[in-house]
Amino acid sequence: MTAPFTVELDPTPGRRQGEEQFVLHLDGETREVVLHDYATVYSVPGLYEEVVQHRLQCASPATVADALVEAATSTGREPADLRAFDLGAGNGVVGEEMTARGVTVVVGADGIGEARDAAHRDRPGMYAHYLVGERLESSEVARLVREERLDALVAAGAVGEGHVPVDALAELWSTFPPGSVLALTLKDGEGDHDVADVDAMLAGLDDTSVVVRRRFRHRLSMAGNELYYLVLAAVKG
Ligand SMILES: C[S@@+](CC[C@H](N)C(=O)[O-])C[C@H]1O[C@@H](n2cnc3c(N)ncnc32)[C@H](O)[C@@H]1O
Repeated sequence: MTAPFTVELDPTPGRRQGEEQFVLHLDGETREVVLHDYATVYSVPGLYEEVVQHRLQCASPATVADALVEAATSTGREPADLRAFDLGAGNGVVGEEMTARGVTVVVGADGIGEARDAAHRDRPGMYAHYLVGERLESSEVARLVREERLDALVAAGAVGEGHVPVDALAELWSTFPPGSVLALTLKDGEGDHDVADVDAMLAGLDDTSVVVRRRFRHRLSMAGNELYYLVLAAVKG
């Protein structure tokens, strides 16, 4: 993908992740873009990959895909057996990582239509279905899980504060059959409660056991600091 744009990241220290911004030079115009303005970021082909994957060295997509495969393997299953639902899928970076490991990616979902449009534009044919909604209808998800025989629910950087609420994740996970694998990356900084919230959710489930749990360097901040997340993978017994 060629990038007909250039970017200058704003290295102002102390910004929260949701406040980080950069200057975008595109088509002779210059404008400031907030990184979490996903609709704008996804609207320019290659921009998400340039800023998040390349410049900020985001490891979440590869890390969550590795954890998914590791969890499946621990139960004696091959990656090729897995049929995945990619939650908060964006333009398909995580789907591509799963596909590269032999997983069949079937469904993507995101809160905004711009993510679906970018996924179909950038990775045509990868998602057979792409749902849009801040809070998905669990009956629609349950139907897809059944009809498409889905058995992996994956979300990289997409659960927790400002993203998919943990109770919505619990509702989605309840639609997956025994033997399914859940793989997530979660913000794990000082004062964050995403990990505690997901731990509480999992502790309340008799049928789900955690098989992968480790901290990793999620990405750099624009100020150059290392941001750590937790990767979790769990299996439904
Ligand atoms: C940090 S991005 C990660 C995108 C992708 N998982 C990746 O790693 O490349 C977070 C994504 O979650 C999506 N998102 C935020 N709130 C959501 C919600 N309530 N339901 C579904 N997706 C949501 C955003 O639109 C965005 O695409």
